[in-house]
Amino acid sequence: MAGTGAFAEIVDGDVFKYYADGEWKKSSSGKSVGIVNPSTRKTHYKVQACTQEEVNKVMETAKAAQKSWAKTPLWKRAELLHKAAAILKEHKSPIAEALVKEIAKPAKDSVTEVVRSGDLISYCAEEGVRLLGQGTFLVSDSFPGNERTKYCLTSKIPLGVVLAIPPFNYPVNLAVSKIAPALIAGNSLVLKPPTQGAVACLHMVHCFHLANFPKGLISCITGRGSEIGDFLTMHPGVNCISFTGGDTGIAISKKAGMIPLQMELGGKDACIVLEDADLGLVAANIIKGGFSYSGQRCTAVKVVLVMESVADALVEAVKAKVAKLTVGAPEEDCDITPVVSESSANFIEGLVMDARDKGATFCQEYKREGNLIWPLLLDKVRPDMRIAWEEPFGPVLPVIRIGSVEEGIHHCNASNFGLQGCVFTKDINKAMLISDAMESGTVQINSAPARGPDHFPFQGIKDSGIGSQGITNSINMMTKVKSTVINLPTPSYTMG
Ligand code: G3H
Repeated sequence: MAGTGAFAEIVDGDVFKYYADGEWKKSSSGKSVGIVNPSTRKTHYKVQACTQEEVNKVMETAKAAQKSWAKTPLWKRAELLHKAAAILKEHKSPIAEALVKEIAKPAKDSVTEVVRSGDLISYCAEEGVRLLGQGTFLVSDSFPGNERTKYCLTSKIPLGVVLAIPPFNYPVNLAVSKIAPALIAGNSLVLKPPTQGAVACLHMVHCFHLANFPKGLISCITGRGSEIGDFLTMHPGVNCISFTGGDTGIAISKKAGMIPLQMELGGKDACIVLEDADLGLVAANIIKGGFSYSGQRCTAVKVVLVMESVADALVEAVKAKVAKLTVGAPEEDCDITPVVSESSANFIEGLVMDARDKGATFCQEYKREGNLIWPLLLDKVRPDMRIAWEEPFGPVLPVIRIGSVEEGIHHCNASNFGLQGCVFTKDINKAMLISDAMESGTVQINSAPARGPDHFPFQGIKDSGIGSQGITNSINMMTKVKSTVINLPTPSYTMG
């Protein structure tokens, strides 16, 4: 059970502590922030409401700890990460339980998130050992006007303190996808978890504590965004920000100083379906891509653009599969569970009502109880409807019927987002042309969008983000290149 056994020390009464300087602490504010269970809509957990003074202290210790961590051999950093990964997997049950209660993620998916996170940490340790274990060697005489009098040695060095801000939908996995690359590269790490997902994050951080990482190297600070949000992201002690979430990322990018940013801010992933597509395969992928975790994934299929000639058949196939989705409690591992908050459910409902008022065809009856919204396929959606462009982050999927592939590409590219997209066709030549034409960070051919496997590059263009993630790219992003140039008095040629 969360907060018990190996995790007993992370909680004080009914409030979870924050983690700083290698210890679990209570905030001097004496205040807490409640975490509402999306299913019951009642406060389920409480976390510390940390103060700006506590943020300052965390930044100081993070800076000091980073200096000695950067001198820790790479193989030792990797060894500790492997240890943390093993401990995380060993304790998957209480962490998954917190995910079920805080974000209503279905029980099995919650366990999968924790296991995937352990695998990510281990892979990152391995990749870091290889990637950071080598640099480059350049000679000067390849550039016109130079003789071979200069040898340039480059290596990758840490940035300093990395601030990691993961979102509610993958609080553990999208936290470790920032923590592990930062640490293997020799950085220290300050984690600000989302409020919903904070308790799962605190448990995950305790696994790093149990693995005996040096004091102050990792901190986890909880609290209200209004109190510590801007203070953290604009803090002069922060040398890099890795953020996943919504529009807040755009605001952060405008306020942050001259530091590297890694941002993933959502998407409106288009699924383009051609006449020759295998409609059974498309329908299965639309269900998986559009409705898993109730559509609360940045990579969810968020608009289907289907050729008119096959639209009736596809809509029927998807409708049949929607009817089989189970709706209810995350504890019972239902496919569709309550969305994260009442305001989120209200927003989704607003999009549905707008589509209804403008004449979309409802393939199911719209049904909502509290935060639980039944899966809904909206056919014959037109570009004047909000759902054609906005991200519901819920189990509602619009279908737009198109007369040509160009029309589909045009709709995809007219979006402010450009995270992922997918195209279904048996013609690989057409698929390649469409992929090249789509303004998206990734295009999947004959499968739904997805971030994983976690070592694949993952990036958005336009309002979907800055930079590229995936294990290798994140390690690279959290380092900078350092050169040392050896200047020789006379040209020297190998074996010359
Ligand atoms: O919500 C954003 C995540 O990065 C999506 O990850 O494709 O593994 O669900 P996923």
